[in-house]
Amino acid sequence: MTTPPTPHSSLLTPDSSFDPLLCRQSFPLWDPVAPPPPIWLDSAATAPRLRCALDAARDFDTAVFANPRRSVHRLGVAATQALETARASLADFLHAPDPDGIVFTSGATASANLLALALPPSDFAPDATVWIALSEHHSSGLPFARAARRHGAAVHLVPLTPSGDLDLDALSAALSSSPGRPTWIVAASCSNVIGRPQPIPALAALARRHGARLFVDAAQTAAHAPIDVAAWDCDFLAFSGHKIGAPAGTGLLWGRASEWPRLVPHVLGGEMVDDVPLSGPPVYASLPARYEPGTPNAAGALALAAAAQWHAALPPAARAHVHALADRLASRLAAVPGLRFLGAVSDGVPRTLLSFTVDGIHPHDIAQCLDAQNIAVRAGRLCAHPLLAAMDVPAAVRISLFPTNTVGDVDAAAAVVAEAVALFAP
Ligand code: ALA
Repeated sequence: MTTPPTPHSSLLTPDSSFDPLLCRQSFPLWDPVAPPPPIWLDSAATAPRLRCALDAARDFDTAVFANPRRSVHRLGVAATQALETARASLADFLHAPDPDGIVFTSGATASANLLALALPPSDFAPDATVWIALSEHHSSGLPFARAARRHGAAVHLVPLTPSGDLDLDALSAALSSSPGRPTWIVAASCSNVIGRPQPIPALAALARRHGARLFVDAAQTAAHAPIDVAAWDCDFLAFSGHKIGAPAGTGLLWGRASEWPRLVPHVLGGEMVDDVPLSGPPVYASLPARYEPGTPNAAGALALAAAAQWHAALPPAARAHVHALADRLASRLAAVPGLRFLGAVSDGVPRTLLSFTVDGIHPHDIAQCLDAQNIAVRAGRLCAHPLLAAMDVPAAVRISLFPTNTVGDVDAAAAVVAEAVALFAP
């Protein structure tokens, strides 16, 4: 039904290196008939949309569009099948044992809120402790912190090493010495500010040793590295479609089969119940319908699955290309006077984004200079206020990369940053 993604073998040059210009052919943003787009260095905020994802959504809405899980007519059956096929494909993407452990949501933020609201209050009781990474994005930090506040649990921040990684040694010591019962650890597999991949299996093992559960925000990983919920051994994981080239308003929450029964749905409505008696409480449906009340965004689910398949089929050279661009950008920016990176950049850890400040210059001024040259980056507090406060940084500039970026993109950005700094230097 949908247009197959570009065969990825065609993204390699004859010497087997990755060709970002060929890669751009998978994205309508770079259609030759469209106006030239900005140099897009803001993919950590949202990625260019993939043609295969847009086609999948359009094909569903054009020809199928019926309400999944409800209607017995043929389009209703086709819609149900399409939704469940997308779920199965995403289970492959996550290496999840059972597609029914995946609930479609409108994105990572909705997933984290769903989880924090549906968990039993005993997880956040006054004797409980909740450990949220200092570098956590507000999307998961805030829902868990509010649940803790609401029910009386203490919230602790997971400290970072000087490089900007989760400090597992310090966390281990703190878990052992802090009073209370650790119930949850909340951490991103890659911070949207620091941009370094985190040791999730080691974190999961630490959580388990202390009787805690682990929620992973994989929003900044899904486009850049394989996700393996089985190997990672986390309890719940979320990511957003728009960061991998699917439309905004798509995403998922995956949970371990043994964990879902502890939750109680927070949002109620049609088709998430097996029975609603004349009196008494409803009988909730089984997974995944129980957490997908109302008409699901089936077009979005198909787009999400198409985008995930596209990324899963990328050659390893695509990821190496992004890491090499980040290294090149870091070494050029390192030469800019007064520029300071948030987190280490030169220790060989593969990264897909860089955040920095420049002494005496507001990040918005740098971002505006870049925009004046048609280069899009993000500047501000990056939805990570506790991290910036702890680093004593009022705001930062973030440059983030995608397989569609070129050496020319990062060289242009580094040159404009250098010019802007020369212009604004106190
Ligand atoms: N979470 C997105 C970002 O970090 C919006 O920019």
